[in-house]
Amino acid sequence: MFNEAIELIKHSRYVIAFTGAGISAESGIPTFRGPNGLWRRFRAEDLATPEAFARNPTLVWEWYKWRMKVISRAKPNAAHLALAKMEAAGILRAVITQNVDGLHTSAGSRNVIELHGNIWRIKCSNSICNFKSMLSEPPEEIPPKCPRCGSLLRPDVVWFGEPLPPEAWEKAVTEASRADLVIVIGTSGAVMPAALIPTITKDKGGKIIEINIGGSAITPIADVFIKCRASEALPKITEGLGL
Ligand code: OAD
Ligand code: ZN
Repeated sequence: MFNEAIELIKHSRYVIAFTGAGISAESGIPTFRGPNGLWRRFRAEDLATPEAFARNPTLVWEWYKWRMKVISRAKPNAAHLALAKMEAAGILRAVITQNVDGLHTSAGSRNVIELHGNIWRIKCSNSICNFKSMLSEPPEEIPPKCPRCGSLLRPDVVWFGEPLPPEAWEKAVTEASRADLVIVIGTSGAVMPAALIPTITKDKGGKIIEINIGGSAITPIADVFIKCRASEALPKITEGLGL
């Protein structure tokens, strides 16, 4: 499996990565699905939708404040670092991620496309006010208010029922169309439209390498499937590439 993956990477012209919560699991950030997934314990409808925020902004902010605390303690793991190394070596061109934790950037990846936003960015919930800002730590008082118009601030992440940020989506589609190989890491492939990214590369004649501890919705179309933890698999691959 590893040799096959390494050969495929060596013979590809334009390689990208598509990542999900599984790549950050070993940094101590819980995934959403699976036996210990967050959506087993919490209902997405109560925490991650515009309706939930309108109904109970404090509850939604409590959830994000908790996630911010978990994420602020997390460091990039060997998988994030291996992808950064591959990019620095000119082998990997882009990382398209569904994660909001910012760990790819902390690991040194440069061309990172965040399809679901970033947990440290906040924006005004009043759509006619354009206030946006960055946090460096969880807000003390929740829900925080907009300094410009007094409306509630919200995390600048994508909630269920919301469109993806158009610029990120367009960039991701461009990268996926250009790529002749996409390495899919730690995602269930259950959330649309993000999960379409590997199929875009595949439809253009490109290949898919998947790294996951179990199967996913993408496994049936993967050319090489590596059933392994991301932090173990990716360093093996960079080693095989001589990095
Ligand atoms: P999921 O929680 O749906 O899936 C995580 C995947 O990672 C599963 O397929 C696991 O088998 C795999 N996995 C777990 N640990 C791993 C490890 N150490 N190494 C390799 N693989 C591992 O996460 P996502 O697919 O990212 O959306 O979820 C997609 C979206 O659903 C998220 O971005 C979020 C969520 O609701 C929004 O918030 C909009
Ligand atoms: Zn405002």
